[in-house]
Amino acid sequence: MARKLELITEFEVLEAHEADKDMQALLTAAREAGAKAYAPYSHFLVGAAVMLTDGTIIIGSNQENAAYPSGICAERSAIFYTGSAHPGKEIKMIAVAAKPEHAPDYLTASPCGACRQAMLEYEDKQHKDIKLLLQGRGGQVFISASVANLLPFKFDAAALEGAGVMPETAEVKITA
Ligand code: THU
Repeated sequence: MARKLELITEFEVLEAHEADKDMQALLTAAREAGAKAYAPYSHFLVGAAVMLTDGTIIIGSNQENAAYPSGICAERSAIFYTGSAHPGKEIKMIAVAAKPEHAPDYLTASPCGACRQAMLEYEDKQHKDIKLLLQGRGGQVFISASVANLLPFKFDAAALEGAGVMPETAEVKITA
């Protein structure tokens, strides 16, 4: 008989005033970064901000291109620049803020698959979870305790060695 495999991913949801000082600072940086996006084709502005454990903040925004696939998302702009400029430094949190250009408020956009994969690499590399903060509507903040939490069937270095792909952080229910 077929078995059912259920993956449960958890988010913590905070109201704006419940976020601590570091979170507030990082979300502000992500929103400001989004305002600098180059998105003449989608008119969808995304900002990402990376906070190192030493408090340094690195920002990125989506940068589009007339040859569409040559553009890059905000999260990868930010994480690749972080890896380039601060190799070996530990990343504490990444905040993401997204909105259509003329929309009055942010929408809770979750990083695309390619960005999750790119961020996961740095989480695995530092052997320490990276908290993800997603700017929601009305100041709400959606928090994922790790990147892996958003990518339960992750492909990682261990997979290259033939390890399985079952998640470590997501709760797994197997019903017979
Ligand atoms: N985008 C991001 O920057 N991050 C994501 O996680 C999803 C999408 C950008 C890519 C493109 O410039 C625009 O948003 C519309 O897809």
